[in-house]
Amino acid sequence: MNATGTDTDTDTDKVLVLPATADRCPFDPPSAYQQAAARAAVTRTELWDGSSCWLVTGHQEVRAVLADQRFSAEGHRPGFPFLTPGRRQLAIENPAFIRMDDPGHARLRRMLTTEFLVKRVEQLRPEIQRIVDEALDRMIALGSPADLVTDFALPVPSLVICLLLGVPYEDHEYFQQLSRTVLDTAASEQQVATAQGELRSYLADLAARKRRTPGDDIVSRLAVRDDLTLKEAASSALLLLIAGHETTANMTALSTLALLRNPAQAARLRSGEAEARTAIEELLRYLSIVQIGLPRAATADIDLGGTLIREGEGVLCMLSTANRDEEVFPDAATLDLDRDARRHLAFGFGVHQCLGQPLARAELQIALRTLFQRLPELRLAVGTEELTYRTTMVVHGVDALPVAW
Ligand code: HEM
Repeated sequence: MNATGTDTDTDTDKVLVLPATADRCPFDPPSAYQQAAARAAVTRTELWDGSSCWLVTGHQEVRAVLADQRFSAEGHRPGFPFLTPGRRQLAIENPAFIRMDDPGHARLRRMLTTEFLVKRVEQLRPEIQRIVDEALDRMIALGSPADLVTDFALPVPSLVICLLLGVPYEDHEYFQQLSRTVLDTAASEQQVATAQGELRSYLADLAARKRRTPGDDIVSRLAVRDDLTLKEAASSALLLLIAGHETTANMTALSTLALLRNPAQAARLRSGEAEARTAIEELLRYLSIVQIGLPRAATADIDLGGTLIREGEGVLCMLSTANRDEEVFPDAATLDLDRDARRHLAFGFGVHQCLGQPLARAELQIALRTLFQRLPELRLAVGTEELTYRTTMVVHGVDALPVAW
């Protein structure tokens, strides 16, 4: 559709990527992406700066791109698709390992893999349960109604990641504010640069202190390594701090909303009929909160399911449409907590697949099951039409979720 709302021939094979936000149902991919997916698994698209790239919407094709290291994650590669000027700033200026290829990426990621092993995270479960229980105690003590985002969904993952990293939770308002700017596609290049710079120096100071007096936490373990500079330690800590709370927080709040809108499904989670582990995989698939495409640049000519992607062309992998691919998930637009959704791509795929996924899973399983069990009367305190969504953010979510019980 063009600005006047009519279809034109040229528009049919071009979907403007930004701004494209959930426009019909807050749980569904934006209609622009759905229309692209309906046309083909790989289509041409246009970006904000007038450049073109490939929009990859099919499950098999997204997986193929993310599994193939000839598709580079490095922002300086020719054709790398930047979603906004702010994203360009993040990808090029001192990138963290999420924006690096192997071997540089593997070197930094390897230093953290043991921290997030399933076995390690399993040992954290009692601690996560304590954090969830205490957050709920506080919310309940403050009384109904409450904003589930500020009183529960955000504090739980923030407290957990602060504990693991050794970042003082007292500073949470400071770093949450800066993280939001970094993840806001509407923020200017300058705003993103300033926010990132502040967070980086905050974490570099912390790492320097921990190098002198290490504690039992991730930042200390990074800071005392002699094969890592303080700058690198701060960069990895920054990635973990931002990725570690924004994602899980939005997933908790949006999942709560989805369950409140699907009471029969919520009842199954509460009673234990739907197993929490299976239910969370389905919520991850259904909500696919990473709402911008994962960017890559082709470093060779590559045949992607019959489409030739040329060296120097960019691709954007849309997890939300891949996770609604009917060939893999029949009746994909339906939330079904008993579905085997393990093939979802909500955590990405390949070498950059989410490092924190065992932690995110444990937090979500514990937080949502406990919330619905302890507050069986939980309901929305406002009409759904009053809710507003994080439309310009990298990670989708609800701005506030007023609930009563
Ligand atoms: C529901 C919660 C989460 C979702 C949906 C999510 C999603 C993702 C996705 C899609 C990627 C791949 C990015 C790419 O390929 O370009 C990713 C990477 C990453 N995530 Fe998560 N994430 C979540 C929670 C977490 C948590 C809790 C942490 C840390 C404690 C974390 C740390 C990371 C890191 C470090 C990477 C980069 C991995 C690499 O480049 O090797 N994430 N995440």
